[in-house]
Amino acid sequence: MADIDLMGIWNKCDEMLVHQGEPYNAETPVDALAAEITPLDAFYGRNHAPIPHLDSADWRLRVEGLVDRPLELSMDDLRRLPERTVVATLQCAGNRRADLIEVRDIPGQVPWGPGAISTARWSGVSLADVLAKAGVRPEAAHIAFTGPDVSELADPPQPFGGSIPVAKATSSEVLLAWAMNDQALPTAHGAPLRVVVPGWIGARSVKWLQRISAQAEPTDNYFQTEYSILPPEADPETAGPGAGITLGPVAIHCAILRPGKDAHLASGPTEVSGFAFAGDDRTVARVDVSADHGGTWTHADLDPPENPWTWQHWHTTLNLPIGETELIARAWDSTAAVQTESPATVWNPRGYANNAAAHLHITCHP
Ligand code: MTE
Repeated sequence: MADIDLMGIWNKCDEMLVHQGEPYNAETPVDALAAEITPLDAFYGRNHAPIPHLDSADWRLRVEGLVDRPLELSMDDLRRLPERTVVATLQCAGNRRADLIEVRDIPGQVPWGPGAISTARWSGVSLADVLAKAGVRPEAAHIAFTGPDVSELADPPQPFGGSIPVAKATSSEVLLAWAMNDQALPTAHGAPLRVVVPGWIGARSVKWLQRISAQAEPTDNYFQTEYSILPPEADPETAGPGAGITLGPVAIHCAILRPGKDAHLASGPTEVSGFAFAGDDRTVARVDVSADHGGTWTHADLDPPENPWTWQHWHTTLNLPIGETELIARAWDSTAAVQTESPATVWNPRGYANNAAAHLHITCHP
C-alpha cells in the first residue's frame, strides 16, 4: 500500500495501517490508540465507496418524513442553533475482526485489528434541536440518515445510510457535527456535516449527511441490516434482511496496546496497558489482566471516563516469567457485563462485534 498518497488524498499519517486504498479503509496506529483524543491524521477511516466532495455553499440538509414541518437547511441555518461539543469514541462494528478470522475465515471482509476505533472532540448541533425544529410526529419511531456515496458493495448499489430509534436520536449526545478536534470536519470524515451517534456502532454515524427522515420503521437501506450478527451457519450472500440481530450499541471490550504484538522482552516487572470501551451509555467498571491462562487476575488501574461515550485507558505492571506467556485482558462494564473468553463464542459470518477478551503472545528473556 506504500504507493498510495495517503497525505494527499486522505490527510493521514504514514503510520496508518491501510487495508484498502479505494475505498479507503485504514486503522489508527498503536501510539495514537494510547492517546485520549486521536489526532485527525491518525483517526481511523471506514468507507464503502469513493469519497464524495460536496460544496458546502450548495449543500442542503433535507429533514422530512413523519414531521410537521419538512426543512431544507443550509450550513448557515444550522449554525444559528446552539453549538454543542461532545467527546466521543467512534468504533467500527468490524473492529478486531482479525481475531475472529483466526477462528474461521471470513472472506471478503476487512481484517481489522484493534484500531478501527478512535476518539474525537466533536462539535456541531444537537440532532434533537434539528428534530424539534421539524416537529417529529408521535407515530415516528426511527430517524434515518442518508449520505450521497453510492456503494457498489450494496445489493442493489445504493447510497450509504442507517437509522437509530427516536429515543437515541433525541438524546443530547447525538450530534450533527461540522468540527472535529476544534478544526473544520475533514472531507474524509464527512464534511460538511456528519452524524455522530456516541456509544453506537460507527455505521450509524453517517458521513456527508444529506437527508434525515422520520419514519415508523428502521430504514430499509442495505447497510442497516448488513451490520447485523448472523447465526454461524448462515450464508451472508443469501441471508434475508430479517436473518440477523441488527447492531446498535457497542458491547464492552478491551485491547492490549503495550507490550506490542509478538514482543520480545526482558522478564520481570513489565508495564501492560491498553484501552477499554463500554459502549452505549455505560462506563468501564474494571479491567482484569492475567499472565497465567486466567488462573489469577490483576486489577488494572483504570482512567476515569471523560463521559459515558469515551474509551478508558488502563495500565498495570505484571511480573512476567522467562519464556512464552499469553496475556489476557478482560473488561467489565457498569452493568456487570463482562467480555466473553474466546472469539470462537462470538464468531459470526460477517465478523461483527467481536467483544471477546484480548489475548497477546509475548516472549520474555532472562
Ligand atoms: N457514512 C457514509 N456516508 N459512508 C460510509 O461508508 N461508513 C460508516 C460510518 N459512516 C460510512 C459512513 C462506518 S461503517 C463507520 S465505522 C464510520 O463511518 C467511520 O467513520 P470515519 O471514517 O470517520 O472513521
